[in-house]
Amino acid sequence: EKGGYDHFMLKEIYEQPHAIKDTYRGRLRVEQGIVKMAGVDQNLERFLNANRIIIVACGTSWHAGLVAEYIFEDLARIPVEVEYASEFRYRNPVITDKDVVIAISQSGETADTLAAIKLAKEKGAFVFGICNVVGSSIARETHAGAYTHAGPEIGVASTKAFTTQITLLTLLALKLARESGTLSKTKFHEILTEMEGIPAKVERVLESNPLIEIIADVYKDAENCLYLGRGYNFPVALEGALKLKEISYIHAEGYPAAEMKHGPIALIDEQMPVIVIATKKGHYEKVVSNIQEIKSRKGKIIAVVTEGDSQVRDLADHVVEVPESSEALSPLLTTIPLQLLSYHIAVMRGCNVDQPRNLAKSVTVE
Ligand code: F6R
Repeated sequence: EKGGYDHFMLKEIYEQPHAIKDTYRGRLRVEQGIVKMAGVDQNLERFLNANRIIIVACGTSWHAGLVAEYIFEDLARIPVEVEYASEFRYRNPVITDKDVVIAISQSGETADTLAAIKLAKEKGAFVFGICNVVGSSIARETHAGAYTHAGPEIGVASTKAFTTQITLLTLLALKLARESGTLSKTKFHEILTEMEGIPAKVERVLESNPLIEIIADVYKDAENCLYLGRGYNFPVALEGALKLKEISYIHAEGYPAAEMKHGPIALIDEQMPVIVIATKKGHYEKVVSNIQEIKSRKGKIIAVVTEGDSQVRDLADHVVEVPESSEALSPLLTTIPLQLLSYHIAVMRGCNVDQPRNLAKSVTVE
């Protein structure tokens, strides 16, 4: 049932090129120049008249929401707030019937997310669900929605659910941006075409697996790890740190790269591996100077870079390359090496990768 892989997690990491295709199949129509999403078309006015979008989710799904915040604001020019469902539901939040709430959940059963949805509905918001599990509680409780179609995710640590959520949210943002006119036809077409090429690029990133295994061997005994990224790749840093924590039990933190100097830089010494996302598009020069700051404090640098990069290669202890992409779609590529790194470190430490201690696949209690 693991299809020849040692663990479900590894199988699911490798399924991502297919899973992403399954998410955009029938929706992404490059030739017609449209994004087709029935649940959105039927409620287009609600979306287009929205004062803002509030995204509610937990854990990895919340990280997908953070990536979506960048996409929606960048392309569709709709203000977005991303909320932990558990905080949102108990905060007496300001919600009106002009708000659109997007709930993201792989399992569709997360108790806090479900409660946040009920609250938002009571206050008159339109609630759109993004779930993987068909017929789940959240899928039933929302006004409309779209499934990621990632296929069953068995490993407790979420992998393909994350990249397919980002894929779906990107399609949604593109659709709204085109319908509202905030995105030109040319740019829209350009991103649609690029999205179609993402699965092949993910395949290429997966080819780095043997290299990542070597890197994992060097850092498997680390006690702490720092993950840094900027812009669209800040949430990827958070997600990378979460993956490492949950399956290898190494303490890890994700930070926006520029925040390092406001505190975490104090942690850096020769014992501290720092994983930095330093792809070419989006704040590259700024990230390079962040890398120099780490290097001058003797931190160990593992950088995720764009193919052909030489500047970061000269500074970093290890580099993993990903194919070139726009900043908006780069999280779909940069996430993959971080998943693999956590996986290998956890295996080398003898951890139960598919069922980490204290964790459950769906959290149905608050
Ligand atoms: C992380 C992980 C959890 C879930 C979170 C939300 O790998 O699995 O953080 O992402 O419990 O679950 P869903 O998406 O099912 O609502």
